[in-house]
Amino acid sequence: MATAPVILIVNGPNLNMLGRRQPEVYGRETLADVEALCRAHAAPLGLEVEFRQSNHEGVLVDWIQGARDRCAGIVINAGAYTHTSVALLDALLAAEVPTVEVHLSNIHQREEFRHHSFVSKAARGMICGFGSHGYLLALDALARLIRGNREA
Ligand code: DQA
Repeated sequence: MATAPVILIVNGPNLNMLGRRQPEVYGRETLADVEALCRAHAAPLGLEVEFRQSNHEGVLVDWIQGARDRCAGIVINAGAYTHTSVALLDALLAAEVPTVEVHLSNIHQREEFRHHSFVSKAARGMICGFGSHGYLLALDALARLIRGNREA
């Protein structure tokens, strides 16, 4: 049996605090809950999930670089680094892996400084404002892209 395409799901700073951190903004689900939802959703799509979180920019860069030639897609919620990190943008551009950007909250309804995303410049698309469901929508989008590539 052919091995399933691997999707790297990368979570940035403070997302380890999910469930306890500003629940009125980010909800009550923990990151472990989000991981479980992603794994359950990915299986019938025929995708394998690698789910990771770090508070450290360089670690995130290393993981993104490591996805090149190994992963079929990236889902990234870069947290606050979304709005600050040219290093993450460059890593995503270098990885050359189809990427979907996700945010739990609707960043465009929030403070002005959250409206700009460096990650978006390297992403095929961006999903925000749907809470953890955004991760599942991102997996659907990547499954379709990967299927399209295989059939092309
Ligand atoms: C976030 C939005 C960011 O602005 C914020 O810094 C986060 C979480 C979201 O998922 O809504 O840490 O990426």
